[in-house]
Amino acid sequence: MKILAIETSCDDTCIAIVEADKRGYQRGFTQIKFNVLSNIVSSQVEIHKRWGGVYPTLAKREHQKNLVPVLLNALKKAGLLKKSKAKLKIKNLKPILEREELLQKKLRGFLQNYQQPKIDAIAVTVGPGLEPCLWVGVNFARALSYFWQLPIIPINHIEAHIFASFVNTRINANKNTNQHKNLFPAICLVVSGGHTQLILMRGIGKYKIIGETRDDAAGECFDKVARILNLGYPGGPAIAEQARQWQSNIQYPISNIQLPRPMIYQKNYDFSFSGLKTAVLYLVKQLTMNNKQLTIKQKGGICAETQQAVIDVLIHKTLRAAKEYKAKTIILGGGVVANDELRKQFKSNIQYLTSNIQFLMPDVQLCTDNAAMVGATAYYHHLKQKTKSWKNIQANANLRIG
Ligand code: KG4
Ligand code: ZN
Repeated sequence: MKILAIETSCDDTCIAIVEADKRGYQRGFTQIKFNVLSNIVSSQVEIHKRWGGVYPTLAKREHQKNLVPVLLNALKKAGLLKKSKAKLKIKNLKPILEREELLQKKLRGFLQNYQQPKIDAIAVTVGPGLEPCLWVGVNFARALSYFWQLPIIPINHIEAHIFASFVNTRINANKNTNQHKNLFPAICLVVSGGHTQLILMRGIGKYKIIGETRDDAAGECFDKVARILNLGYPGGPAIAEQARQWQSNIQYPISNIQLPRPMIYQKNYDFSFSGLKTAVLYLVKQLTMNNKQLTIKQKGGICAETQQAVIDVLIHKTLRAAKEYKAKTIILGGGVVANDELRKQFKSNIQYLTSNIQFLMPDVQLCTDNAAMVGATAYYHHLKQKTKSWKNIQANANLRIG
């Protein structure tokens, strides 16, 4: 089965073609394997850089401009792009794309000139995310579904971040797909620019949020600290690089910079990262009094300590949740999981504490927003017949996973 997946919940325009394969029944279990035929991400970082964050109406316009070129690219890479012999007659797309005039024009041109590709379903992120951005992707998917007469599979962005770990991991699934050998219950940590959530996963589609951030998400905290330190956008990779340079430079003695680990010892599973950002702000104000400039050493020390404070809180709470809920698996997902130190420290802490918990995290390039994770999630929904007609698909900026 081939799925065309679309993701536009924030500032990346993403389309992937994912082929799913079920094979080898063994005592009721089968292996599910994904073959990512293409996974195109068109980043808007250069556009949003000057604002220090994502500007929704600008992001929406960029999605409108980018979706058709990204689709062409994704189909071409997957070997599914074929010119039509004669110009095709286009049904009326206007009612579906009336608010996306630019996209409508581009899509019309594409549909006139190319044959329907050999795909079986369309998957699209419907939420949570930035409302105007979500709607562009959703309406694009609805128009394609209407024109090609294919079902749509609506996908929750947070669930997709969890399933990013399954894209390159073969999962043994039961025939009815609800049971997965030794996988559940799982504790999932989704940590990105918009979200920080701990989720108890009892099976595919069975989620309960057990804790989440009360203010800023961890990625948002990195982005804001980077802005304070003039390191550009997105902040996470910039802070990680400064911290890495600082740590590898033996000329610099141990830093005396200390930042708080918000809520680390509280008995709930919630987070709060805005206090950490404020602590950095006060520290920088103090260090730059009387027109002083931050030294490279001070900047590096602040980055390393901010990164470590976030990692400490995330590891502590995730492992405590895994213990309390007797988790068989810990699954990480979201842009912040691209962080090298976080990956290393999670791995070593889990190995140190227990040998019988499986640990899954996505390949680095599948941590930040992409459509391959949306396609993989959609396959599991398709197994449970959770497809819909284009008429019943809507974006929901505040969609919750459980
Ligand atoms: O999942 P994602 O691409 O988008 C959302 O759903 O929000 O996550 C983006 C976030 C940004 O805040 C970015 O600063 C952070 O992930 N990020 C990182 C790294 N790469 C991206 N944070 C820390 N270290 C990284 N290497
Ligand atoms: Zn995301």
